[in-house]
Amino acid sequence: MVKYHSTRGSCPPVSFEQAVLQGFAADGGLFVPHPITRLSRDRLNHWKHLCYVDLAKEVMSCFIDSTIVPKQDLGCLLDESFASFDKADPPLLSIDSDGQSWVLELFHGPTLSFKDVAMGFLIRVMDYFLDRRNDQLSLILATTGDTGPAAAYAAAGRKRISCWPLFPAGMISKEQELQMTTIGAENVTPVGVRGCLEGGDDLDLVVARLFGDGRLTNRLKLSSVNSINIGRVLMQAVHYFYAYFRLIERFGDALIFSIPAGAFGNSCGGEIARAMGLPIQFICATNKNHTLHRIFSAGIFEKLPLQHSLSSAIDIVVPYNFWRFLYLRSDLDPEVVNRSMSELKDRGKVTFDVSLSHKLSRGVVSASVTDEQTLVTMRDLYEQTGYLLDPHGAVAVAGAAQCRSMMAKPTPCVSVATAHPAKFPEVIKKALGSNHQLPEAAFHPSLEEAKHADVKMMTCNYEELEKRLVEEIEASLQGQQSDK
Ligand SMILES: Cc1ncc(COP(=O)(O)O)c(C=O)c1O
Repeated sequence: MVKYHSTRGSCPPVSFEQAVLQGFAADGGLFVPHPITRLSRDRLNHWKHLCYVDLAKEVMSCFIDSTIVPKQDLGCLLDESFASFDKADPPLLSIDSDGQSWVLELFHGPTLSFKDVAMGFLIRVMDYFLDRRNDQLSLILATTGDTGPAAAYAAAGRKRISCWPLFPAGMISKEQELQMTTIGAENVTPVGVRGCLEGGDDLDLVVARLFGDGRLTNRLKLSSVNSINIGRVLMQAVHYFYAYFRLIERFGDALIFSIPAGAFGNSCGGEIARAMGLPIQFICATNKNHTLHRIFSAGIFEKLPLQHSLSSAIDIVVPYNFWRFLYLRSDLDPEVVNRSMSELKDRGKVTFDVSLSHKLSRGVVSASVTDEQTLVTMRDLYEQTGYLLDPHGAVAVAGAAQCRSMMAKPTPCVSVATAHPAKFPEVIKKALGSNHQLPEAAFHPSLEEAKHADVKMMTCNYEELEKRLVEEIEASLQGQQSDK
């Protein structure tokens, strides 16, 4: 039976149910499944023609024992999770004349980013467990703009869940903010936090600190749906299988995915797919916040100051899922993770030895993309093909171009388009020029509607965030008790 082990190794493994309800492991580590089923060629062949949701059922069954969620219930939860998507299968589009470069659109869910592909399922399965336990949860999550809307949408109206998306005020697009603040649900309270000098990283720290206090976590019934939560990461393995199967006839086993990386959760989903035997490679595409690029290209993990970029959702300097990746690549050795975490904390920098660097970069290359390259990529592709990328998809495409130009034999590449362009109209104006009329793809009806809806949110300064949150969550739990 698959159990969930902490990357820090000092608490016993738990079931899938405990892992998703807790978010963090009790020792502050992140959960990783073990064992990971290695799929035979025959099994992969059987999955080849499945539609996305059926593929999700197969992949997730490898991680969720049927004694914990019976197969039929799992199927219903997944069917419901994708019912609000405007396309049942994610579109895969060729963007060059020789059919070597592709874009996988993962933004056809209700809040127009790839976060929807896992969030709908994660919050539903949490609610399913809570019903069974007759319990409640308070979800706190840090967002750089897209996790918040996805969580707010999936949690809205669920009686057993209260949801607290924390965002760095002024550092996300107006459209992303409105998606959260106009959700109109009593159980969702977005919190705009002023004075986050390090953006989403500052908020990640608050989330980690709150979870560091076991008594508080229990009292407030805290959990998180950031990609801290292994439920998110596992669901994010499915799209790699899907795109691989759609292109395998054309390219055989040689396929590389370019992934715009922030906290590195989407990429960890890809790593899980690889660990299951999918023969794929990755380009880790960062913007000028290039912590991950330095890890993969120079073997150095160093926390540098945050720089604001046009691809703001990946403005992250400590990509916390890297600890999960390190654990997987170091043959599940928590000592390697603990040592590296301490070194980063004490010295601000970790230098991996040659052997570990080699293990880390097996099948992974990386790139750092400037804002100028992001804009040029958006403009050139639009002018040449009429296809409009969002700035994060553009980082993936530009990162792919950089890496492929250095390959002796360029490998066919799928760039992961993680958000709908309509979430970033200001960046589109910059890319296409302010004289250019915004193309149709720069609008989405749901975002236009949000501009006229009532706004509900809380604001506070960074220094008072922890205290305010604790008070608000306590009050909300008391309210829920007296409603019973
Ligand atoms: C549009 C978009 N692209 C990419 C990412 C990065 O994903 P991850 O944090 O899983 O690396 C995010 C995450 O915030 C995002 O919102």
